[in-house]
Amino acid sequence: MGKIFRNRDKLSYKYIPEKLPHREKQLGIFISVFDDLLSGEKIDFPRTLQFVGVVGSGKTSSSIVGVRKLGEEIRKYGLTLKHIYVNLKIEATSPFLLYKTLMEKVSMSASRSLSAEELLSKFVKKISKLDYLLFLTFDEVDFFVRKESKTPGIIYDISRFYEILNSNGIKSNIVGITFISRSVDWLSYLNPAEASTIGALSILYPPYSKEQIVDILEYRISESLYENTVSEDVLEYIAEITSIYRNGDIRYALDILLYSGIIAEYEGFSKITLDHVRKAIGKNLFYSGDIQYLTLEEKSILLATIRSIQESKRMYVPLSLIRKNYELLTETLPIRRLNEDSFELSIQKLVNIGALEFKGLTRITVSPAVDEKILLEKIKQELKKIAKN
Ligand SMILES: Nc1ncnc2c1ncn2[C@@H]1O[C@H](COP(=O)(O)OP(=O)(O)O)[C@@H](O)[C@H]1O
Ligand SMILES: [Mg+2]
Repeated sequence: MGKIFRNRDKLSYKYIPEKLPHREKQLGIFISVFDDLLSGEKIDFPRTLQFVGVVGSGKTSSSIVGVRKLGEEIRKYGLTLKHIYVNLKIEATSPFLLYKTLMEKVSMSASRSLSAEELLSKFVKKISKLDYLLFLTFDEVDFFVRKESKTPGIIYDISRFYEILNSNGIKSNIVGITFISRSVDWLSYLNPAEASTIGALSILYPPYSKEQIVDILEYRISESLYENTVSEDVLEYIAEITSIYRNGDIRYALDILLYSGIIAEYEGFSKITLDHVRKAIGKNLFYSGDIQYLTLEEKSILLATIRSIQESKRMYVPLSLIRKNYELLTETLPIRRLNEDSFELSIQKLVNIGALEFKGLTRITVSPAVDEKILLEKIKQELKKIAKN
């Protein structure tokens, strides 16, 4: 029996948790769009919304949790809300497939002999007879629109369900349609008529910050791991690299935590350590917490690199400039100056641990996890300690 996982599945990025910490605002806006429905009134027009944000910012989960919440709220009026969620990238790579998918999701079969157009009209007629309300979500719509530019009009069709229903003399039972995309660029692929039917309300999903990632991981851990299996250090590390190198993609953080846990269990540990996380990442990504393990000379070299970057206003700087600034530092601060060989060995070590990035003798830069202020503070602390002894 392992000592780490209580329920491994609940750490999977495929699992949609009960709550979504740090998405309360977005969910609040979403729900408020339907406040008339929530007070028992009928909705004549399907409301169209957009969720826009980078990968792993909680858009898909929000759509699931949001519609689930809506459904729970209106149950007291005897209403049932069914969510039809379609990932366009996976489930609907052509209009025909899209309508076929939609029909299957309301338990209809789609005949191959019908055109996409006929399928849509059949679908619209069928759903008006359902004794429940519908909510439609179209995910990864930007992918679809670009790919599908040969058949424009599909987005238009989707957002015009209501009008199609109306022209058939039937009332809509679709209460809302959400389009999910990474950016708003896809709107520019639409013609003006299509774009105008999408509706104006966009709910934005900014990337999760480092602090937010720590909170989310803590919440997910409470459902999936035993107590005291992960220290704050480990969480901070995973959150930091996710934030810096993966633009806050929470899926990456969850994956790394999962793999780290698997490695820890395999090695017989009852706690996940930084070492397990590093193994899970399989690559040297520098963590700001690692600064404390560097020597005073190594810290000075990093500081000299940052100064070189500032001085030249370039991301990548030559080794000679780093050495010049390093020597300058040893003149202004009581830091031992390394000889040529030791200096180069230190550079090599900093590259190996990921604190520096080396693309050639004239192209060296520092990891984004190295912060000048923290570096300077640590150097000063250390110098004070030396002075006391
Ligand atoms: N705020 C959150 N709290 C807890 N888990 C989250 C949160 N946001 C995302 N997740 C988890 O991360 C996974 C990926 O999020 P997702 O909604 O698919 O992101 P997106 O659609 O923006 O790429 C989800 O399945 C869920 O498990
Ligand atoms: Mg998604």
